Amino acid sequence: MKLGVNIDHVATLRNARGGVEPNVLEAGFICDKLNVAEITIHLREDRRHIKDEDVYALKKQAKTPINLEMATTEEIQKIALDVVPHSVCLVPEKRQEVTTEGGLDIAGQKEKLRKFIKPLQEKGIIVSLFIDPDEAQVRASAEIGADYVELHTGSFSEAKGEEVEVEFEKLKNAAELAQTLGLKVNAGHGLNYQNVHYMHKIKGIDELNIGHSIISRAVFVGLETAIAEMKSLIE
Ligand code: PXP
Repeated sequence: MKLGVNIDHVATLRNARGGVEPNVLEAGFICDKLNVAEITIHLREDRRHIKDEDVYALKKQAKTPINLEMATTEEIQKIALDVVPHSVCLVPEKRQEVTTEGGLDIAGQKEKLRKFIKPLQEKGIIVSLFIDPDEAQVRASAEIGADYVELHTGSFSEAKGEEVEVEFEKLKNAAELAQTLGLKVNAGHGLNYQNVHYMHKIKGIDELNIGHSIISRAVFVGLETAIAEMKSLIE
């Protein structure tokens, strides 16, 4: 399995003071140095962390491929088509949410999303859909021609006691079905140093996108060490 590092919260900290520190480009250099698979950034509609100029600067400077998380809006699609990141991950977005809540509903908007992803794929951008580990969503993702699904591990990560296995089974079944239907599989949200080992028990996951736990640990041990530790747990 590969590691994609989500550096949104470097920008969250920077924006708290409105200056340039900590610099997201420095985070990008550390990702380059540690050979992570992708630098993941979410250009939210409200620009609460990553800003447009971060996307352009990272695309220009980072050797690591950029994975742009984005809502399915025309405004952000235009930016994605201009920047041409290595991949995009389509996510649902609500203004008031603290972080991405729940997966994108593919099954309920197949035609809209089929049209939405077409120009992105025509530019050579890999399209991933962030979905709950649900059979209908996996099937709909395959039907509209996505390249990847990113399975939402939030419910698994928050589960306690017996629920952990229940949520884990959902991820395992969804990952199996996705691969049967020709989709590649990533996973992410809420994964941390304690629970990430579960992902090894699911066959065929290509990449884990992890942000909050890495940046939190980086506050105490530094970003390089925090990434290296996570990398050694998943590779
Ligand atoms: N994958 C997606 C699609 C996300 O929206 C997020 C959160 O931005 C992550 C992965 C990373 O989640 P976390 O910060 O909880 O590791």
